Amino acid sequence: MKINSANINVMIKACRKASKTLIRDFGEIENLQVSLKGPGDFVTASDKKVEKILIEELQKARPNYSILSEEIGEINNDESFKWIIDPIDGTSNFLHGIPHFAISIGLEHNKEIICGTIYDPIKDELFVAEKGNGSFVNNQRMRVSARSKLKDCIIFSAGPKYGSKEKELSMEEYKKFSSKVIVPIRKLGSGALDMAYVAAGRCDGFWARNLNYWDIAAGIILVKESGGYVTDFKGGNEYINNKTILVTNSKINNEMMEILK
Ligand code: IPD
Ligand code: CA
Ligand code: CA
Repeated sequence: MKINSANINVMIKACRKASKTLIRDFGEIENLQVSLKGPGDFVTASDKKVEKILIEELQKARPNYSILSEEIGEINNDESFKWIIDPIDGTSNFLHGIPHFAISIGLEHNKEIICGTIYDPIKDELFVAEKGNGSFVNNQRMRVSARSKLKDCIIFSAGPKYGSKEKELSMEEYKKFSSKVIVPIRKLGSGALDMAYVAAGRCDGFWARNLNYWDIAAGIILVKESGGYVTDFKGGNEYINNKTILVTNSKINNEMMEILK
């Protein structure tokens, strides 16, 4: 049985509280799907509600920490500690009634992510990691997969925010990728869960362009604490600034880099 640190407990409590609203709202989506107006505004409101609960909970416990959250942006305070929040990662899935999305919270200390929680409220799966203390899914220790041949792997990929002007993964990129290897590439619609699944050894790698910090913050520590690698496409540490991220079980890292460069 693992013992959670105080910060992890704060994060879990916030996730669980906010998830009640998220689950309730997800139950409404089906009805709205068939309405003339569609669920768009409702989802935006839900996103904001979830964010508000998360921020209230985190601030109650740690009033001095700074915050970067997708919808409201920055709340500046003690800059050495910062919560990085994505209230709903997988909004398009949520909007379409697809039960695959998550709340993601990372904690940065002196510019390094030291704690992460990703909570999938529908499957009730809580992914947790803390620097030096390993990573867990519902209290079970996680490890990345041991697959070393790309042909045996499943690779996930994500793209820029739905509807944004940033470049989507082009067909050329997919073709380039799939002409070099015969490997299933899947886009499940939640970058945070994609990374959590690499950490859990369910898939073997993940790559994306143009993701934001809040999409990947918690995933970074989950993957590292599971024994995986997080780099940019060239193997460096500039995955936040360069907006290219490659996450692997470590064994397929070189092969993936060869393909993506
Ligand atoms: C999105 C998801 C998706 C990725 C998009 C992100 P959101 O986050 O992570 O997998 O392809 O780039 O924007 O908008 O649902 O928070
Ligand atoms: Ca989001
Ligand atoms: Ca996101």
